[in-house]
Amino acid sequence: VSWVERDAAVVWHGFTQMACYGDNEPVIVERAEGHELIDVDGKRYLDAVSSLWVNTLGHRVPELDQAIRDQLDRVAQTTMLGNGNRVVIELAEALAAVVPVDEPHFLFASDGSAVEQALRIAFQYWTNEGHPARTAYLAFGDAYHGDTLGSVSVGDGGFGTDLLGALRFPVLRAPSYHNPDALEIAADMVRKHAGQLAAVVVEPLVQTFGAGVRIAEREAFAPLQRACNETGVLLICDEVATGFGRTGTLFACEQVRLRPDLLCLGKGLTGGYLPMSATVANSRVFDAFSGTDLSERTLYYGHSFSGNALAAAVALRHLLLLQEWNVLDNVAQRSTQLGTLLRDRLLPLAAVIDVRLVGLIGAVELRVPDGDVLFARRVASAVTRRGVLIRSLGSLLTVVPPLTVTAAEIDQIVDAIAAGIVEVAGT
Ligand SMILES: Cc1ncc(COP(=O)(O)O)c(C=O)c1O
Repeated sequence: VSWVERDAAVVWHGFTQMACYGDNEPVIVERAEGHELIDVDGKRYLDAVSSLWVNTLGHRVPELDQAIRDQLDRVAQTTMLGNGNRVVIELAEALAAVVPVDEPHFLFASDGSAVEQALRIAFQYWTNEGHPARTAYLAFGDAYHGDTLGSVSVGDGGFGTDLLGALRFPVLRAPSYHNPDALEIAADMVRKHAGQLAAVVVEPLVQTFGAGVRIAEREAFAPLQRACNETGVLLICDEVATGFGRTGTLFACEQVRLRPDLLCLGKGLTGGYLPMSATVANSRVFDAFSGTDLSERTLYYGHSFSGNALAAAVALRHLLLLQEWNVLDNVAQRSTQLGTLLRDRLLPLAAVIDVRLVGLIGAVELRVPDGDVLFARRVASAVTRRGVLIRSLGSLLTVVPPLTVTAAEIDQIVDAIAAGIVEVAGT
């Protein structure tokens, strides 16, 4: 029995049609070295999805491995509910120095539940402040904020969520970043509906999964910040995908000059090692929850593994390594190289409509033959067979290498993509 058969017999993979899981040539990873994944047959793949955008410095980084080993000798997990943990404090102190949030406090979670937490906090904020009618959210067309029900509600559907209509709460919807005026329109909507709005939820700089990597103008975000400042509507920035260097700065907020009341971090926080995320609240939000013990002003929210000590230890070391290794410089250089190669090598191909890139988030939009919904998937498989693991997203190929990717590896990625497209499209 093959590993794929054993896998399909007992594991349910997310975002995956299990009836044909095995037909799509899944890679069954056994171990990894640096930027390469090694499968159960010993075949190597360059991890150009960064294990779903979480990996930053590669796999089995000695410093990160050691941070976890050291923490294991202290403690792996203790509860944050009413108690603390030394390494979590150290992590929060280190993050506080770099996040674009005033006097931040960190509510830790795992995965994208950081967004769910932000929605809950924003909602209760207004009740605590004596304005219980401010219960609505403004979000953008084509937004994707995760899979939990609150996140799916502020997200703009797609990904099989349309059947959840009865479970999703209604939100005010601004246009997607496809529309160059989206942020201006959102700012107007904030002003118009301020009396009912708790918060606006925004992906700074780039809409990723929902919109197929749509990059907004950096200056476009200023009106939204102004509208929030003027009306008091809370600004929630979802940097789950963009945080920790992915777009070229530590946080995308820095490039678009947003200063959120609530910031959502995830994916890259631990360098892709362990599931940890955080909702970061500024002092305005945090102070609104201050009250007497067991009072209704308290935030009654906290996951069991909030502030996991092993995750905190590796996140802390990771944050230091980003600085010690000048990782952002590498992102800038490799991004320039990748952009040039995507344009020079791929745009001339008949099967390529567009390439988009910000930092080390790349997208190649394919010309899909009429009705051939599996076209991009077949191209991604062809690229993966050439030893470069990438994923398709609708009609796109996404190119999301580790932040420490080398120049030679960028060449290798683009070579494999070009060959994969030619194999499937024939030109
Ligand atoms: C912008 C954004 N928000 C939230 C999420 C959800 O994060 P997770 O998949 O870790 O739950 C994602 C995941 O891709 C994301 O890209």
